[in-house]
Amino acid sequence: MNHTPENEDALSRRVAELIHRLEYHNYRYYILDDPIISDVEYDALYRELKQIEESHPELISDDSPTRRVGVSTAQTDFAKVRHPYPMLSLSNVFSMEDLVRWDTAARKFFPGKVDFEYVVEPKIDGLSVALTYEDGVLVRGATRGDGTIGEDITLNIKTIKSVPLKLRQLEGKPVPRRIEVRGEVYLAIKDFETLNRELAEKGEKLFANPRNSAAGSLRQKDPAISASRPLSIFLYNLGYIEDGLEIQTQTQALEYFRELGFRTAKDIKLCRTLEEVENCVRDWLARRDSLDFEIDGAVIKLNDFKTQELLGYVGRDPRWATAYKFPAREATTVLKAITISVRRTGSITPKAVLEPVQIGGTTVQNATLFNEDEIRRLHLKIGDTVLVKRAGDVIPNIVKVLDERRTGNETDFEMPKNCPSCGFPTRRDPEYAVLYCTNNSFDCPDRIRDWINHFTQTMGMEGLGVKITNRFYDEGFIRDFADIYSLKKEQLTSLERFGERLADKLLAQIEESKQRPLSQLLAALGIEGIGQKAAEMLAQHFKSLARLRAATIDEIAEIKGMGKVAAQSIVDFFANARNVALVDKLLAFGVRTSDPEDSDEKSSKPFSGMTFVLTGKLLNYTRQSAEELLKRKGATVGSSVSKNTTYVVAGEDSGSKLAKAQALGIKILSEQEFEKLVKD
Ligand code: IVH
Repeated sequence: MNHTPENEDALSRRVAELIHRLEYHNYRYYILDDPIISDVEYDALYRELKQIEESHPELISDDSPTRRVGVSTAQTDFAKVRHPYPMLSLSNVFSMEDLVRWDTAARKFFPGKVDFEYVVEPKIDGLSVALTYEDGVLVRGATRGDGTIGEDITLNIKTIKSVPLKLRQLEGKPVPRRIEVRGEVYLAIKDFETLNRELAEKGEKLFANPRNSAAGSLRQKDPAISASRPLSIFLYNLGYIEDGLEIQTQTQALEYFRELGFRTAKDIKLCRTLEEVENCVRDWLARRDSLDFEIDGAVIKLNDFKTQELLGYVGRDPRWATAYKFPAREATTVLKAITISVRRTGSITPKAVLEPVQIGGTTVQNATLFNEDEIRRLHLKIGDTVLVKRAGDVIPNIVKVLDERRTGNETDFEMPKNCPSCGFPTRRDPEYAVLYCTNNSFDCPDRIRDWINHFTQTMGMEGLGVKITNRFYDEGFIRDFADIYSLKKEQLTSLERFGERLADKLLAQIEESKQRPLSQLLAALGIEGIGQKAAEMLAQHFKSLARLRAATIDEIAEIKGMGKVAAQSIVDFFANARNVALVDKLLAFGVRTSDPEDSDEKSSKPFSGMTFVLTGKLLNYTRQSAEELLKRKGATVGSSVSKNTTYVVAGEDSGSKLAKAQALGIKILSEQEFEKLVKD
């Protein structure tokens, strides 16, 4: 390409457009939970931007999504930053009586009767941060620190996908010259669990709870590590705003945050009486286990900013807000034993058996121990009194041993030298902290049982839980997961407490499972390292089990996001004659092993035969990108309106084409309607 000024100009326009589109799709995905393009399409846009930036470094701008994963600068320490307004903490209340007292104290500041409005929010258990935007661009992210001085963690903050690098521009509303917003960075409970599992495999130190894991991830010296942790954010406070809108209440601030492209917690309520507040708090407490993030209470704030100002602070705590703390989900109990289970992959994992104890409404009698190193790190002995913590509806962790409670009767625990199920020697993977059963044939019963169960669960045979599949295995009805399809009604009904109805129900579920999409089948096979997501990529690429079976490592690793390790694992799997026999058996039983070739094609061309005409200016698409999108879905894009036009998409300032469409009675779509249509 030659570097004429026009070319440069066109290129920098393209860069701006790509940034705009990527940020928009990011917003749809991370903020609205409502993506309108596929990952593949997103990746293509991202790659294009990256390529331009590589060949034209002068076009790299700070708000480019490629800058999210900061270049590792091997930061030694985080710079200190002073918060223009201190980041406060919150007083606590633990009962309704406490809350009434807090309310009464606040009312004393107002002579006569005053109507309060309260906002009730979840108290998210993460790490608070302050984000500063200048002219709409993120310029700084800082931790709370001691409230006055925090640390500059801008590079790490940028890796959080739900933090906009640039604020969304609002029609008719000025972009504030400077705005500082505050919120809580957290790691979802399931991501916390996955992270701990991965750390355990590598023999690294685990995080005790989601909060620590968020803090640890955010304060990484290498932003690439932060980027690999799926952190998220909820905004809850306005720090300050300069030359922008007048925001007068907390509810307005939250609404404004959403307009600017931030996430706020759902179900935040405005209450007018303390009774309403109490109900909201109870609601959050009741929902605590079903949320995908950890909360340790509810925050009650007075809605009106003037009221807030008047009330001011006591020490570090505002009088206008308080935290209604929920009971801690920790308890002490005794470690009775450590049991060992052998998983389908052969990994041998310890599990703590506890003296049953109540934690936050459930009886806890087990805790995860992950691996041998974790037992060592905790200096755990059988008989120890331990502190157990439960987050969300997760299996609890042992946080620490209460040394002072030792009696001298505690005993050491050793991981077994032989597999407790089949007696084969165990071996520790030198690279990881994991112990394995070395029996790779089909006669380690625990491995097979776990494998069968994994298969039935992944294939959606809900009725075939662990207990039932184990029973079938122990009765000798099945030797492997493919045998599930050979089960006969007489076999099932021959078992005690197994009626006809149950047998029919299970057989129907088994039969139905034969038609699952290829991705589900691939995940169900239990190939090491191939979970649902990898299985989907493989299915999309290969479309049939036969083709995947014939693929080489290179062919598999070529798929974006697949990696050599996963590719090797797949090839190893199919190199094993026993696995091949298993897969053949599935085929013989009539299990579907391919996805219809053209289904993809058809479903992605839903507009074939339709003619669209675009007119006016669209907010979130350039003319070219809208046309591309329509054509990719099979539509024809016309330049003038006629009676053959199916839809006219009318953006802002549409002129004669719109009028003509109206005259001809042609269906007119707004940008929102267009968006919805292309999404469906
Ligand atoms: S408001 C003056 N709102 O709780 C206002 N804080 O114990 C101070 N937190 O440092 C913060 N969710 O890290 C507020 N909805 C929420 C919150 C929240 C979690 C954290 C925050 C703060 C701590 C105070």
